[in-house]
Formats: sequence, structure tokens, C-alpha cells
Amino acid sequence: MTQETDSEADEHEVRGPRRSIDRQAVRSRALVLVPDLRVRPSKEAAEAAQAVRDLDARVDEAYGLALAIDLDVVDRFAVSISQAKPATLFGSGKVEDIAAKVKEGDVDLVIVDHALTPIQQRNLEKAWNAKVIDRTGLILEIFGERARTREGRLQVELAHLQYQKSRLVRSWTHLERQRGGFGFLGGPGETQIEADRRQLQEKISRLEEELDQVRRTRDLHRRQRKKAPHPVVALVGYTNAGKSTLFNRLTNSDVFAKDLLFATLDPTLRRIKLPHGTDAILSDTVGFISNLPTHLVAAFRATLEEVIEASIILHVRDISHKDTEAQAQDVADVLKQLGLDPDDRVRVIEVWNKIDAVEDGRRETLLAQAATTGPDGQERHVVSALTGEGLPALLEAIEGRLLGDRPVHRLTLDPSDGAALAWLYGHGEVLERDDRGEDGLKLAVRVAEKFQDAFMARYGTMLQDKPELQDHEITQE
Ligand code: GTP
Repeated sequence: MTQETDSEADEHEVRGPRRSIDRQAVRSRALVLVPDLRVRPSKEAAEAAQAVRDLDARVDEAYGLALAIDLDVVDRFAVSISQAKPATLFGSGKVEDIAAKVKEGDVDLVIVDHALTPIQQRNLEKAWNAKVIDRTGLILEIFGERARTREGRLQVELAHLQYQKSRLVRSWTHLERQRGGFGFLGGPGETQIEADRRQLQEKISRLEEELDQVRRTRDLHRRQRKKAPHPVVALVGYTNAGKSTLFNRLTNSDVFAKDLLFATLDPTLRRIKLPHGTDAILSDTVGFISNLPTHLVAAFRATLEEVIEASIILHVRDISHKDTEAQAQDVADVLKQLGLDPDDRVRVIEVWNKIDAVEDGRRETLLAQAATTGPDGQERHVVSALTGEGLPALLEAIEGRLLGDRPVHRLTLDPSDGAALAWLYGHGEVLERDDRGEDGLKLAVRVAEKFQDAFMARYGTMLQDKPELQDHEITQE
């Protein structure tokens, strides 16, 4: 290995979000444990989404998370816990059993798919002689690997530091290391923990400043984009719901779509053209997950600004997944944290994806269900991003929503004027058509703003409304 030059070292500092797992040439051998708390410690915990989740699905999800950072997973299983132990979470018998498995499998990393206190983490590391990380630690790790833009990387780094800071607790090691009045950095009586916290806080402040700078530049770009006022259609959804696949289908591009959790971390924006010519910007965003640490949601808030400001939010659901309801609830929770109303039927359209993976009986039920609106009047569309089923209708619906606040024009056409009719179908949305009229073909149409002038030039004289009254007679839907 050659020595790193200064500039390379700098690059690493920017590029490499803090990693808690030592990534060497050899893949870490990992064990994935999903604690199954039989007696829930509190009413709130029992009400938490996890309580209704299928245990196998939870093990699958945790396994998927571990694979997302390319770990060599030796084994994965649920561990029942009758009562959470403050020192080790698991009971002593379980701790010993797992220690044997760790030794046998030559495991160097144990993932506990649950929150661990710093003390539990340290005690388990000692007992198993392996590195231990909890769910938040793992998610941060994945985010660290997936972040591609500078902003994404800074956000992850920041979330990591905040996580570390929240885990600095007064424990015996820290008390032992109390430095009394001899510390150089702190004043008299400053403890190691205070010094650590202060150092972290300094780094956090530095990162926040850097992020601010990056955001200002991005805001500028956003404002420029707003000059060409294309409405934004944002995709949101639980991780692996199929957002990137749908994005690719709709934009014919090739965004990283893979069976990897959190394949998408930074927003990807692309222009799409809707069936009647309306332009829109489609935005793919980070997948959501249950128990997403709140500070991570906060950290990604800026990235999710596209969602916050979107004209339409497509909530993509994996309708073939056992836990599709719980996942939808998780997404709704994150949307709420972003200050959005998940049941906003004007902006949110539910997309029930992966219908091709649903067996026939259920498929019929879902199609029937989707034909009606949801409990709060939400529109639902059944699609398959893989086969393309249902996508034309979805695009029509999106365009219908976007045109929804455009005026509706009524006009009468000469039925033999095929070209005029074709133009209207190509550039507008034909809402009503009556072929039986004596004096011609009666239509109600709505056109995108950018075609309004062309429409008036071509059809102004054919509008049913008298020209001088036209403005008043335009009906607003
Ligand atoms: P994150 O980046 O984790 O948020 O995932 P995502 O929601 O972008 O999911 P992605 O598009 O990467 O798809 C996840 C997996 O689901 C991939 O293996 C896709 O091939 C698969 N998938 C996506 N859409 C469909 C679908 O309509 N049917 C089936 N059967 N599989 C699909």
C-alpha cells in the first residue's frame, strides 16, 4: 500500500461517513438476531407497529438489511425474550447460547434488530467477544454506504454523530477516566464524557455549516428549476416497495434498481411527459422503514423537500408483502413527521405495486378494492412496475390531478375534422364527449397551461361560450 497523500486523506474525510463496522478485504461474518419480546414492556410498545408484524417477515427484513451492506450472514433467527434485561436485553441462558454460536460460526459481528442501550451493547460485546450493533446502527451503516451525493454523505455523517452523542452516557469507564482539574481542553472538573460530548458537538456544528453551504447551492438549482414550472410528482414508500423500478419504467431510465434495501438514498429527479403532453418531474426518494430513527428522518428532511413540496405524492406499496399494512402505516408516520397529511386525497395517490406477485384469488379482491376509494377517499391504483400492468391508467390519473385546477372548456367541433379532434386528445384531456349532437361533436376539455395559447388560437372561435363572456363561463372543476 502506498501512503495516502494529503488530498486523498481529505477526500476520505468527506467521502467516508463514519463507519462503526470495520470493513476489511474479508467480508465480516455476521449473525442476525431478531428479539421477540413476549411481554412487552409498555402499552406504547405493544401498540408499536412491530407488534403486528409477522416474525418471519421481521427476520427476512433484518436479513435483507444485513445483505444491503454485503455482510456474510452466517445465521439469522428470532430470539424470544420473556423480559428485557437492562444489562444484556437477553436472559443469561440466551446470552450463553448465542456466545456458543458466535464462537462456532467464527462470527465477528452480531446484529441485534432492536434498540440497544450503550450498556447492553457493551456487555453483549464482552460476552460474545464480537462487535455488536443495533437496528439504528445498522441503518446508519447502510445509509453511509448508499449516500452518493455530497449532501447525502454529510447528512449521514451528521446523523451518525448525533447518534453517538445520544449514546454517551455516564458509565464506570467514564467515571474512572475522570480527569479532575488536569485536563487541557476542559476546565477544572471536566469529565471525559463532557469532553467527548463537546468534541462531538464541535464536529456537529462544523458539519451543519458545511451542509448549509451545500443546501444553499441546491436551493439555487431548485429555484432555477422552478422557473420552468413543472410540477413535481414524488415517489415515497417502504424500502423495497419498487419505487426505483417504477421510476425506471415511467422515465425509461436505468436508476439503480436492485433487490437491495435502500438502493436509493439521494433523490433522483427526471422529467416525464404525461399522456396528454403535460410535463412533470418525477422524484425518487429514500425508502422508509419501521423504526427509522427520528434524527435520521430529520437529517433527510432537506432531501425530502422534494416530497414536501410535491404536487402529487405517489405512495408506492408492495401489495404482495405480508406486512403491507404495517409498512403503509410506517410510511404514513414518516410523512406525518415531515408535516404532511398521509390521507390528503388531493395530493396522495396510493400505488399498489407488485400485483403480478399476488395469487389470483387475492388479486381479484385487490382489484375490486382499488376500484373504490379508500376510507379517506384516497385513490388507489393497482400496478406492476415489472410487467407494466396498470401504468397507463396511473399516468392518466396523475395527469388528471395535475390538470385538475385548470379550467374546463366546452366546444363543438365539426365531426369530420379528425385533425382537430386528434390535437385535442394529444394535447388535452377530454373529459366529456357527446357524438349525438345535431350541430356537431360536443366536447369538454382541459389543457395544460403550456398549450393554453395554442388551444385558444385553434379553438377560440369554436368555444360554446360567447367570446366576450368566455372568461366568466369557464367552469372551474
Ligand atoms: P429502496 O431503494 O430500498 O427504497 O427500494 P425501492 O422501493 O426503490 O425498490 P426497487 O425498485 O429497488 O425494487 C425492489 C425489488 O422489488 C427489486 O428486486 C425489484 O425487481 C422488485 N420489484 C419492483 N417492482 C416489482 C413488481 O411490480 N413486481 C415484482 N414481482 N417485483 C417488483
